[in-house]
Amino acid sequence: PAVPVVLGVESSCDETGFGIVSEGMLLGQGLASSAAQHAEFGGVVPEIAARAHLEAAVPTLRIALADAGVEAGDITHVAATSGPGLATAVHVGLAAAKSVAWALDVPLYGVHHLAGHAAADTLEHGPLPERSIVLIVSGGHTSILAVGDLVRDPIEHLGDTLDDAAGEAFDKVSRLLGLGYPGGPAISRAAVDGDPGAFTFPRALLRPGDAPFTFSFSGLKTAVARTVEKLERAGDPVPVADIAASFEQAVVDVLVTKALRAVREQDLDTLVIVGGVAANARLRAVAQERCDAAGIALRIPPPRLCTDNGAMIAAVGDLLVRGGADPSGLRIAADPSAV
Ligand code: KG4
Ligand code: ZN
Repeated sequence: PAVPVVLGVESSCDETGFGIVSEGMLLGQGLASSAAQHAEFGGVVPEIAARAHLEAAVPTLRIALADAGVEAGDITHVAATSGPGLATAVHVGLAAAKSVAWALDVPLYGVHHLAGHAAADTLEHGPLPERSIVLIVSGGHTSILAVGDLVRDPIEHLGDTLDDAAGEAFDKVSRLLGLGYPGGPAISRAAVDGDPGAFTFPRALLRPGDAPFTFSFSGLKTAVARTVEKLERAGDPVPVADIAASFEQAVVDVLVTKALRAVREQDLDTLVIVGGVAANARLRAVAQERCDAAGIALRIPPPRLCTDNGAMIAAVGDLLVRGGADPSGLRIAADPSAV
């Protein structure tokens, strides 16, 4: 049989992504973002995201094809995010994927968005082990997943956040410190000159008896807000760098502690970290240090594969095709609240 050339389509949030993958290799991709259009609203507006996907779909697909150096007619399979995500946004990408699959008369596969995040790393570091722990940390997700072959094994959620996602916490604290949006990179930059031990901010749910893999970041955000208020009320200068570094240290400490605990408890040897927050230098350094000490292999894809993109969905599609999975068919519905 011919070598599969899989087109992946991602539209679950504010990124319109198309990627082309063949036998585990990324051939090319196109990516558009409506992030700038949401900035003034302080969060992604579903209707605006959906319109932006509709406008960006064909031009972005063209970019992916050109980047990969393939013709539309070379595509042998199409894969698209079916959920979880914003319903209106998922619908647009899935409908676009159906149109392409129908026009080319090739099979269509619905893909779980989180499987896509996990698979992104395979494009950089090769196949995942039989089973691994994936820490996904972005503006929308904060979860610890146990991941198997991504074809037949369901993704197992060991824990999620009770309130804010990790990236959301960075964004909110950044606003509070007057550092702007997106908050992650801004806090990181400010934190470079700060002392991570200057303030002891709370690490939620780390006591014995607490849910071992569940996160909560709203208390941390409140603690930072209270610290800033108190300093301002006293007329004292706000040591932004120290606060940024101490906040960052608290988030990283909790993320790495719980992720490593999951690897150990499941008797595994690999931790994969993905999502926009995986770009954080302190997170990468602390995770590397603690994984080295524990004899755990750490895998973090480059930032462009950490954030939402079409290549990661194509990567899952490619695994499904080569793993002999049944296509979803052109009647597949979106599953925006998939777990
Ligand atoms: O995966 P992503 O691009 O988008 C979704 O949320 O789907 O993640 C964006 C999040 C934002 O909250 C941003 O502040 C955070 O990732 N982020 C960072 C860094 N770069 C981006 N957080 C901490 N440190 C960074 N260097
Ligand atoms: Zn995502």
